[in-house]
Amino acid sequence: MAISEAIERAASDEGTKYSLGSVLNHVLLHQTIVGQEAVIQMEKAGDFPDIVIAPFGGGSNFAGLSFPFLRFNLEEGKKVRCIASEPSSCPKLTRGVFRYDFGDTVGMTPLLPMYTLGHNFVPAPIHAGGLRYHGAGVVVSQLLRDKLIEARAHDQLEVFDAGVKFARAEGIIPAPEASHAIATVVQEVERCKREGKSETILFNLCGHGNFDMKAYEDYFAGKLQKHEITQADIEASLAQLDTPVI
Ligand SMILES: Cc1ncc(COP(=O)(O)O)c(C=O)c1O
Repeated sequence: MAISEAIERAASDEGTKYSLGSVLNHVLLHQTIVGQEAVIQMEKAGDFPDIVIAPFGGGSNFAGLSFPFLRFNLEEGKKVRCIASEPSSCPKLTRGVFRYDFGDTVGMTPLLPMYTLGHNFVPAPIHAGGLRYHGAGVVVSQLLRDKLIEARAHDQLEVFDAGVKFARAEGIIPAPEASHAIATVVQEVERCKREGKSETILFNLCGHGNFDMKAYEDYFAGKLQKHEITQADIEASLAQLDTPVI
């Protein structure tokens, strides 16, 4: 909705231009500065990640961190798993379809081949507002389709459990968006423990939660809800699409 409103403004005002802030290729490319710096930081730490994890809204922070690591998979013997973490209430990567769709609700952007729940999809009001987006960046979508990256969905309660665990261990309150990545980290750590393995996990703490105290308050008061969506909800949203099927 915000994208549609921004485009409307830019289209009706001579002096205003709009550049979409997630999803599109130029944004993903721009954000790779994050991963390029992380590659150097890992070198300085004398380590290299087995797994790279980031939360997923439209794809910019995930692509930014993971793309510079993905290219190492072209080297003999190297395998970095890159996992995108999304809300189970807005599961475009894990339950969406790959087809052409618009990047905005009104349908003003160019058509993009992407994993999508349909641009009319209205997700539950979870606290991770930045992840309530119906679609996924074109390059990320293609990588997922080609099984070069992975995706995982978490419900809101699991996400806040992980966020609180992290805050208690590190003294940093993570944004609800970032806590999705932490939920995936927790699962991978538990897998490593079960398998008796030691793996290096790099994740993107993409934002602090200092303005999300109400969400944490609700969590501690037991007021947060699980928001599962049914297959029928997803199909009803997709049925409204008249964009080309790939
Ligand atoms: C803190 C934070 N993390 C992640 C995201 C998700 O966006 P993207 O997938 O484009 O990185 C947002 C979006 O608003 C955000 O505010």
